[in-house]
Amino acid sequence: MERFYSGEINGISFVAGGWPLAEDAPTLLFIHGSGGDHSLWSEQLKGLCGSFNVVALDLPGHGASSSPPSKSISEYAAKVAGFIRAAQLPMPVPCGLSIGGAIVLQLLLDYPEELFKAVLVSTGARLRVSPKIFDAIDKDYAAFARGILPLAAAPASAHEALASVVTVMEATPPKVTAGDFRACDAFDVTSRLGEINKPVLVLSALEDKLTPPKYGEFLKEKIPDAKLALIPEAGHLLPLEAPGPVNEALKDFLAAL
Ligand code: COA
Repeated sequence: MERFYSGEINGISFVAGGWPLAEDAPTLLFIHGSGGDHSLWSEQLKGLCGSFNVVALDLPGHGASSSPPSKSISEYAAKVAGFIRAAQLPMPVPCGLSIGGAIVLQLLLDYPEELFKAVLVSTGARLRVSPKIFDAIDKDYAAFARGILPLAAAPASAHEALASVVTVMEATPPKVTAGDFRACDAFDVTSRLGEINKPVLVLSALEDKLTPPKYGEFLKEKIPDAKLALIPEAGHLLPLEAPGPVNEALKDFLAAL
């Protein structure tokens, strides 16, 4: 991705589709999932960089970020809010997957004045994690990382397009990935969704086993101004499994007044 700009602000590393950002355009700020990095959003960076400002970050403790990992979703949200402020992102639209989506929900609750709109991808208001996941990480992290695709992707998805997910997870320290799942397990904003006062787009994949479409339907029902798109033939790794439908849904959402 040579044509993209890379930088670090407040210990958070990022890749942007262009820099400086256009002052009069919305900025999609992409936030990856547990044990991941910005490359989860490579198809959105490529596909949307002509239409909007696009920035994909590495959460603290992940990828190239120099700051240490956070222990909770609230702590991650505070760091991301600090990044949005320090980078002076025009019209910020945070777009997060799984733990990234939990961080976006926390941003909507704690820092609404900083945001323009928001996007929740493959996520939920409550993200309990199966003890089997913690056991597998403890027992043999490399095997867990190598086996992530059958768990996280739909069987028919082209696994070569998802190889980077495995490589990135293998490179993420086991403690950091386990910490992400612990932060998810403690997260629950189900009773607070009615407080959200920004337009929200929810994207759920019909074959997602980790955060099933039921979680997306719940978000759509409880968030006052929410739209839901259910995407077929894809699993939890929606941005890489179904980049076309995801990018179209993002364009439509940002084009709407
Ligand atoms: N939105 C809507 N409904 C939700 C929800 C959400 N975010 N989270 C849980 N629920 C629902 C469940 O579907 C379930 O409904 P049901 O009783 O009609 O089946 C109910 O609330 C209780 O669910 P849960 O808290 O998940 O309890 P559990 O003890 O039955 O199961 C797990 C716990 C971890 C085994 C289960 O959540 C699971 O298998 N999760 C998916 C796998 C995983 O680890 N994902 C990681 C995501 S980061």
